[in-house]
Amino acid sequence: MSEDAEITVRDACEEDLDAVSVLAARLVRMHYDWDNERFLKAGPSVETGYRRFLAGELGSRASMVLVATMGDRVVGYAFGRQEPRNWEMLMDESGVLHDVFVDDSARAKGVGVALVRSFVERMRERGAARIVLHTAAQNAAGQALFKKLGFRVTMLEMTL
Ligand SMILES: CC(C)(COP(=O)(O)OP(=O)(O)OC[C@H]1O[C@@H](n2cnc3c(N)ncnc32)[C@H](O)[C@@H]1OP(=O)(O)O)[C@@H](O)C(=O)NCCC(=O)NCCS
Repeated sequence: MSEDAEITVRDACEEDLDAVSVLAARLVRMHYDWDNERFLKAGPSVETGYRRFLAGELGSRASMVLVATMGDRVVGYAFGRQEPRNWEMLMDESGVLHDVFVDDSARAKGVGVALVRSFVERMRERGAARIVLHTAAQNAAGQALFKKLGFRVTMLEMTL
């Protein structure tokens, strides 16, 4: 990957899913390593399982799967959904960002910002009045990224 390869964010397609599922599996394993009593354990086939899951999401109008590319390489992805009113969460219709992950080799170049900005813009275009996400308590880099883009802390999850 050349140093100055341009970052492009676009909707993911079926052909991207092999690369995306490798990144998604890293996200799952990273969370389990942080707290193995809260986060699920990724088995050896988590890539396959995540690929199948995201393939289903590509066909859903409520979902949004984005990839960031540099040159012809997928270097990151974001996944989220337009969620309906949720009484348990006391939350009206929202755009919910579930995943964002950037390959180690492409970090600190603005890919994370590009993905989250694009997700927010596209959700706003779809009419989302708010964008909500959850991030692990240990995830200092993720929290810094989201705060930089204007997100504020609104809920704390607790686990026993
Ligand atoms: C969090 C993550 C998406 C950031 O991606 P990135 O492409 O490296 O981020 P960017 O280059 O766009 O950085 C933007 C901002 O994020 C913050 N940031 C990124 N990496 C950071 C780090 N290691 N430590 C502290 N802040 C960090 C900074 O505020 C940075 O702005 P700055 O350069 O002005 O300081 C990436 O580290 C990642 O994939 N982490 C693992 C997955 C994850 O944590 N996802 C989020 C929760 S689901």
